[in-house]
Formats: sequence, structure tokens, C-alpha cells
Amino acid sequence: MVGYPKIRPRRLRQNKIVRDSVAETRLTPEDLVLPVFVKEGISSPEEISSMPDVLRYPVNDSLIKFIDDNYNKGVKKVILFGVPSSKDNLASSAFQKDGVIQKSLKLLRETFGNKVLLIADECTDEYTSHGHCGIVNYRGDQYYIDNDESLKVHAKIALSQAEAGADVVAPSSMMDGVVGAIRDELDQNGYTDTLIMAYSVKYASVFYSPFREAASSAPAFGDRKTYQMDPRNANEALKEVQLDVEEGADILMVKPAHTYLDIIRLVKSNFPQYPLAAYHVSGEYSMIKAAVNNGWINEKAAVLEITHAIKRAGANLILTYYAPMLVQWMTEGVPF
Ligand code: PBG
Repeated sequence: MVGYPKIRPRRLRQNKIVRDSVAETRLTPEDLVLPVFVKEGISSPEEISSMPDVLRYPVNDSLIKFIDDNYNKGVKKVILFGVPSSKDNLASSAFQKDGVIQKSLKLLRETFGNKVLLIADECTDEYTSHGHCGIVNYRGDQYYIDNDESLKVHAKIALSQAEAGADVVAPSSMMDGVVGAIRDELDQNGYTDTLIMAYSVKYASVFYSPFREAASSAPAFGDRKTYQMDPRNANEALKEVQLDVEEGADILMVKPAHTYLDIIRLVKSNFPQYPLAAYHVSGEYSMIKAAVNNGWINEKAAVLEITHAIKRAGANLILTYYAPMLVQWMTEGVPF
């Protein structure tokens, strides 16, 4: 006689309502953070050739409208990246009171009050002529990124972002000690409630290339391998996270997200008591767009599968250029 299997996993997959009832991962608009490029010296939104459907915004009504439209669909958190019109060796335009990020933060705070969570990416690469995430110094004719000089500048930038109204500062330089330096500076100036979302585990990834076009932040010489992590390493991620936790990080981040799902899971398992963000980066976005624009893949199905995978791996917050479309798709129902 043929034996009947007593346990049939397929019973729980027999139709959509059953599958939806037992789904382990649910995406909500609360999970999403929208990255926004704000640029000085333009008067209307500008396209980015390597990132189809993503725009750079001027600090005016068009920025307000974009954020308001997303807010109304449920995206209540934004992370701002500045594209300044002047750069120097010391990233001065990153900490000026009327810098592009500072002006954006003030405008958005005035417009939205506390309805929208304002996160400021804290780095120097968009503001320096050399495009590095720190201060460049020389030993003879050999350049190096001066870690401890950089900390002073990062602390200054973070403070000016907090003064301009940032709820959260997000140091993305991977300088040693940057989280602690920022925490001290904020606390000494009374910004004890300003949150720090640390790019704790940021890999030296090729998938940032389109962003570097979007933000004109490619390094003019050298690369970022002495500060960002080696893609071959996993255990080292725990060392970086441990340090950021000790230095006072409130929220941790793994970046990129899609390429590093194992790292998201590793960090979540080892530090479950900390909220974890993951950044679906520009190159990961643009690869999907390229396939979609060639008619090779269904955009909605692909993006929902990937974004659920990032959440399933352990991310509590997902930074994604797809946030505007994801909230739209969520209202239509997921195709699983
Ligand atoms: C550095 C920074 C980068 C990104 C976010 N913050 C670029 C880099 O390290 O070169 C990349 C984000 C993306 O690719 O979407 N300020």
C-alpha cells in the first residue's frame, strides 16, 4: 500500500489566502526610508542617467511636493544627500549654516514639523574636491586618509546637521571612532536626543557607482578600500558593529543590502537588541531598472521579492530608491 504523507507542507501553500495567512515576513511602509538627493544651483528636478526615474531636487517647492506625495502614501522617513556647488579639501560646504543639507533640513522641518523623520547622511565625499570620506594628508608624495583629523570634521558636520533640524545623523565614512566623536560633540552641545544611525558595515562595493554619478562623489584618486570593508569578510562585520555599539550607535546599518543578505542575518543574530537598517544601493537599483527597461524581468515582482528578502534576512529598516513604488505596490497586494 502507498503510504500517505502525514505532514504535507503543500497544504499551507494551496491558495493565496492560506499563503498570506502564514507568511512569515510582511513589508509595511514603516519599514522604508527614502533616499533623496538635494542639489544646490538648480531650479527644477534633474535626471540622473545611471539611475532611471530617480531625480536630484532643488531646495524648493518641488522637494516639498516629492516628500509630501510620498508621505501621503506612507513613506515617513527620508535620508538626505547633498550635492553642493562648491567643494574644497576640508568639506567646508558640508558644515556651513546655509549649506545645501542645512537649508533642506530647515525647509523640511518648517513644512512637515515632526511628521517626517529627517535623516542626514554624514560624510565628506560629496563636499571635498578629492571625493574621499575624510581628510587627505601626505607623507612625502604618498597620500593617506587622516583618520583622526577626519573625526574633527565629521563631528562638526554632524553638529551642524543637528542644529539645522536633523532627527538622525548617519555617519557613512567608516572612519575609526566616528560614531563616538559625533556622540560626544552632539552631547556636549545639548543634542542628546539626536539619533545616530551608523553605517557600521559598509563594504567597498562596486554597486555604489551610479550614486557617485548622482552625487558627483567619485574619488578623484585612489579608492575607498582603506576605510570601507573588504567584500570577502564576514566576521569582521561583528567587530565593526561591536565598536559602533560601544561608541553609542542607536541604529546599525549593513550596506549594500541585496548582495550582503548573509551579513544582515549575521548582525541581526548577534545584536538582536539593536534596530538594523539595510541599504539597497544605487547599483542594485540600477541593475533591476536595466533588466526591466529591456523587458527581461517584471519590475514589481522582482522588487517585492528582493525587498522581502532583505527584511526576511533581518533588516528592520530598508533604505531604497524603490520606496515610492513599493508603497504603491503594497496597496495593490503582493504577488506571492
Ligand atoms: C558616502 C555614501 C555613498 C553611498 C551612500 N553614502 C557612496 C560611497 O561610499 O561611495 C552610496 C549609496 C548608493 O550607492 O546608493 N557618503
